[in-house]
Amino acid sequence: MARITAGVATSHVPAIGAAIDNGRAGDPYWRPVFSGYEFSKQWLAAAKPDVVLLVYNDHATAFSLDIVPTFAIGCAPDFPPADEGWGPRPVPRVEGHPELAAHVTQSVIQQDFDLTIINKMDVDHGLTVPLSLMCGQPERWPVRVIPLAVNVVLYPPPSGRRCYELGKAIRRAVESFDDDLDVQIWGTGGMSHQLQGPRAGLINQEWDNRWLDRLIDDPETVSRIPHIEYVREAGSEGIELVMWLVMRGALDPRVRVTHRFYHVPASNTAVGHLILENDG
Ligand code: DHB
Ligand code: FE
Repeated sequence: MARITAGVATSHVPAIGAAIDNGRAGDPYWRPVFSGYEFSKQWLAAAKPDVVLLVYNDHATAFSLDIVPTFAIGCAPDFPPADEGWGPRPVPRVEGHPELAAHVTQSVIQQDFDLTIINKMDVDHGLTVPLSLMCGQPERWPVRVIPLAVNVVLYPPPSGRRCYELGKAIRRAVESFDDDLDVQIWGTGGMSHQLQGPRAGLINQEWDNRWLDRLIDDPETVSRIPHIEYVREAGSEGIELVMWLVMRGALDPRVRVTHRFYHVPASNTAVGHLILENDG
C-alpha cells in the first residue's frame, strides 16, 4: 500500500524563485535564506519519495477571480510553470501522478470533502518555489507531484480546522491505494506577511515561532485558531499558514522534528521551514 512518510512545510516567496533563476542565491541577502535548505535538499535526495502531495495556493494565476475553488486537486499528467507576468519560470514541467490523484479524489470526496477536479492547470510560484528550495535546479524534478490548491486569496478561506481534517482524510486516502508508494505531503505558504494596506510589511517573529512550537506538539489546538487571529497576528497573507495544517493533519499526532528553520528577511515574508516525520 502507499504510505505518507514525511511532512515538509515551507514558505513560497516569489523573489526566492527569482533569486535562484537569476543566479543570485549566493548574494549576501539571500545566502542565509538558502542555508536553511542545504540539509533539506540532501534529506530529500536520500529519501527519494515517489510522490509529493503539494498543498499550495494559486495566486489568481491559474484561477482568475471568476472561479475560485476552496480545495482543488490536480489530476493531470503534467503541469506547466505559469506565466506570472515576467514569463514562465525556467523550471521543468511538473509531472503529476494521475492514478494516485484520481484515487485520492474519489476517497476524499467520499469522506465528504468537496474537491474540484483539475485536469489542466499551470502552476505558479506557490508550487514551483517550494520545489526549487527542496530540489535545487535539476533538468527534471526528481519526484511526481499532485498539486492540491487551497483558496487563501479570496475571502472566505477554509478554516484551519477544516484543513487539518482534510489532511486526515488525505492520509486515509493514500493508505487505501494499493501500489507501494512512498508519499510525502508538503504544506506551503506563510509565515507572517502582509503585502497590502497600512500594515504592509508586517512580520511577527514571536507569534510565528510559538505557532511552529504548537503546530509540532499541539496541532489540535492550533487547528482551532480562527482566521481573525492569523490576520491580526500574522498579517493578511499570514492566512496562508492554514495550508500547513493539511500537512500536519496527515501525520501522526506525535512527530519527530527532522529539521526546523526560520529566517527574516526574505522579500516581505518571514520564511519558515519544517521537516516532520511520524513518531506514533
Ligand atoms: C510575497 C510573498 C508571497 O507569499 C506571495 O505570494 C507574493 C509575494 C513576498 O514576500 O513578497
Ligand atoms: Fe503567497
